[in-house]
Amino acid sequence: MSTPVLETENLVKIYGRGPSRFDALKGLTLEIHRGESVAIVGKSGSGKSTLMHLLALLDAPTAGVVALDGRPVSQLKPAAVSDLRNEAFGFVFQQFFLNAQQSVLENVTLPLKIAGVPRSERRRRGLDVLRQLEMDSKAENKANDLSGGQKQRVCIARALINDPSVIFADEPTGNLDSATSRVVEDILFGLHRERGITLVIVTHDDDLAARCQRRLSMQDGRIVNDDAATLHAAAAPAAAVAPHPARHTPSSPATGRHAAVPFPAEPPAPEAPPLSRRERRRLEAEADRRRSGARGEAERA
Ligand SMILES: Nc1ncnc2c1ncn2[C@@H]1O[C@H](COP(=O)(O)OP(=O)(O)O)[C@@H](O)[C@H]1O
Ligand SMILES: [Mg+2]
Repeated sequence: MSTPVLETENLVKIYGRGPSRFDALKGLTLEIHRGESVAIVGKSGSGKSTLMHLLALLDAPTAGVVALDGRPVSQLKPAAVSDLRNEAFGFVFQQFFLNAQQSVLENVTLPLKIAGVPRSERRRRGLDVLRQLEMDSKAENKANDLSGGQKQRVCIARALINDPSVIFADEPTGNLDSATSRVVEDILFGLHRERGITLVIVTHDDDLAARCQRRLSMQDGRIVNDDAATLHAAAAPAAAVAPHPARHTPSSPATGRHAAVPFPAEPPAPEAPPLSRRERRRLEAEADRRRSGARGEAERA
């Protein structure tokens, strides 16, 4: 059995202190293997996003270990952690976190900008991933002008720009109608199947969870069920897919191309309900905070 791509030992996360202390994760030990698709399910407040953020190195645990490819992350310097996260992971969130006023291409290539990749290469790689998601014709459009399903495709393009080995998705279909959700799911599972990308998906959606090879059920900060009975058998075919040759040479013009991800045409509306102006402002501010955090990290790196 290969080294797990991600593992945790006795992972604890406590928010706040004193009377406002909240134990969000109460000692979680688990392994996620390369090529698996894992759903994290459970009621709202059970700790799903907290666990995902720790696995994705977006946040640090109060106690316990997170290891990536067998290396405990706590032994790395913060700059190395952010490099690892930028290189190895892609993110897809319910709220999209697109900069509404920037073009689709600028949004998709943001991780490359953070990594200091020159503009011409950013453009080439950005158009390449947009082509894979059949969104290249929208490259110069403002992100704001897209439908919900198109926005999520742009987010998936952004998640793919660094050729990640793991995609973390937090309620990726939470803002989409059911037909558009299917399209987004098909894209994610296509990436899993065709390229062996590991999927870690937080979801309330039973149908989406059922499509994953494994479901981790959370309750009050603990994993109460891990239905991975067929885990190793199920994970084998995906894991057996050789890593894409471009994975470690993403800038190679000869091998850096991926075929279009197979997915059905996006169904016509019904569209996800438009965000209220207040909600949009809140999300944009949050995205800005994230971006300036990421920039800060890039500068410190
Ligand atoms: N930054 C935070 N500060 C304080 N409490 C938090 C914070 N983030 C999450 N929590 C609390 O931790 C619990 C788990 O949150 P979360 O992981 O987001 O749950 P889920 O994703 O399953 O809905 C919730 O009760 C939430 O209120
Ligand atoms: Mg959550």
